[in-house]
Amino acid sequence: MYLPFIKTVLFSLITISHARDPKGHEYHPALPTDSRSPCPGLNALANHAYLPRSGKNIDLATLRNAVHDAYNYIPTSFDGAFAQAVSFNLTTTGNASTFHLFDLARHDDIEFDGSLSRNDIYFGDDVHFDINVWTPVAHNLNLYDTLGPENNQYVTVETAARARAARVKEAQRVNPSFNASANQIMGSPGTTALYLTTLWDDNVSAAPKAWVRAFFEEERIPFLEGFGHSVIPRTEANFTEMTKRVLAVDV
Ligand code: HEM
Repeated sequence: MYLPFIKTVLFSLITISHARDPKGHEYHPALPTDSRSPCPGLNALANHAYLPRSGKNIDLATLRNAVHDAYNYIPTSFDGAFAQAVSFNLTTTGNASTFHLFDLARHDDIEFDGSLSRNDIYFGDDVHFDINVWTPVAHNLNLYDTLGPENNQYVTVETAARARAARVKEAQRVNPSFNASANQIMGSPGTTALYLTTLWDDNVSAAPKAWVRAFFEEERIPFLEGFGHSVIPRTEANFTEMTKRVLAVDV
């Protein structure tokens, strides 16, 4: 008796849930045949069709357009990362100017131990979101407590820096072959700076918790939660500055 009503409500909820995604860039989680990486930032771009939804055969022009159109970075901001992805011979596309997202998972080329939302390769999977790794990180970011004052809605640089340091410490404790390579030492604060820079709300100088949750837990760009283009495009300099701020926190 209530079925048509329930169907209508469900349909409306689904429609509303993607109402704020830009046209042609609706969120669809990856299919099992899609290629995905250890990087939530790139996976989210593929989940919204800024990169090919397949996650395959990504070239520089496509990456430039994607980071610009979705996150409002100056298009060339990630040219260095792209060069790394192809210069380490990570690519399995058969074309030295493209890569598949999964190619980035090879350990200690770009990928490293002590990630916030992935496990270490020692435990078998350094690519997929891992709830057991993420839960203590989310707890340290105080992500689910948004009650009370307005400033409780945001992740600050200080909180993010401490959560990162705690995750690395825990990974070092449980992984007997923890690889504290130069790549890991620079990459870990760097990736914290990357999500902060990308999800930074200039109005409040912090990253909204709801945006951080969508980004990591669903690999979704949080348009629904109000993520929009920053007024001033992001640059590599913003990222470098944020990395310095993360490193300056006394953890
Ligand atoms: C578009 C903006 C980007 C954002 C916001 C972003 C964000 C992130 C974040 C937050 C992580 C850490 C994940 C974790 O610790 O669980 C990460 C990891 C990673 N990213 Fe990105 N990223 C971006 C672009 C790129 C690009 C262009 C590349 C290479 C072509 C790349 C390659 C990687 C790789 C290989 C990792 C794994 C590192 C690890 O082991 O944790 N990312 N990224």
